[in-house]
Amino acid sequence: MISKPVILDVDPGHDDAVALMMACGTLELDLLAVTTVAGNVSLEKTTHNALRVLSLIDRTNIPVATGAARPLRREPYTAEYIHGESGLDGPVELPPPTFEPDERGAVTLIADTLRESVESVTLIPLGPLTNIAIFLREHPDLKNRIAHISLMGGSMGLGNTTPAAEFNIYVDPEAAREVFESGVPITMCGLDVTHAAGAGPKERERLRSIGETGPIVAGFLDFFAATYEKVFGFDAPPLHDPVAVAAVLDPTVLTTRRMRVDVECEGALTRGETVCDFHGVTGKPPNADVGIGLDRERFFEILYDALGGL
Ligand code: RIB
Ligand code: CA
Repeated sequence: MISKPVILDVDPGHDDAVALMMACGTLELDLLAVTTVAGNVSLEKTTHNALRVLSLIDRTNIPVATGAARPLRREPYTAEYIHGESGLDGPVELPPPTFEPDERGAVTLIADTLRESVESVTLIPLGPLTNIAIFLREHPDLKNRIAHISLMGGSMGLGNTTPAAEFNIYVDPEAAREVFESGVPITMCGLDVTHAAGAGPKERERLRSIGETGPIVAGFLDFFAATYEKVFGFDAPPLHDPVAVAAVLDPTVLTTRRMRVDVECEGALTRGETVCDFHGVTGKPPNADVGIGLDRERFFEILYDALGGL
């Protein structure tokens, strides 16, 4: 089997943690590097969490490099109200990390990884797009070494942070605009598809039974379920970030529609809205394949298989 080279850019966060574990468990992906960004919690905490998760599953050979501590222009905005103070609150306190971040920093690690990879690399950003925007600004010559970007972010409709904006885009709309306008092939895994990936009691029980990490994953999601119920009234926490990984493992898990996506950066009420031109009324060239449907059964099959490989 030829495994696909990927880089995950993360802000763990419970769903980022599960996405990291998926990417490590499956033989179909070759996780070359992990970069961290401020998002759900501060950069210090997202980095600590990424290191802890990879240490837990004995993947300390994968370099982790820290990226942006704040958005390109905006004030930092975090989501402890969803993920807890640590960013990975829950019934199980993960042991401390057993390795240190790579001293190169996120942008240099991405650049070096793209240069050294024989094949072009798929980027899977799962947090605010600050690192990806800075990388594209500083290394335009390496854009053609990116096979694809499968990002978790945006929404064709309602937001989850404001009525108009999804969290990852809301936090750094300028970065998101630069990524969507970069010309790199993008699959947008927005709330329209990730909200269909709710891990209810049945799914969490199945997860709990998968290998040694099952109880930890299920514990993450039990906490995530409680906060999603309290904050949003959801009966199951959406596995946002794992959808972006699943879309790389099996693109047929998503139904997508090619369309123009613009990011609102000026609106007082609509900052961070991904304005999706579903009917092509703007006449602007499409720049993303936007997820409009999720094969939920296939998604969970992919998730279980991937975690079963740990
Ligand atoms: O809106 C959900 C997204 O924001 C997920 O990636 C979650 O981890 C947070 O980063
Ligand atoms: Ca995330």
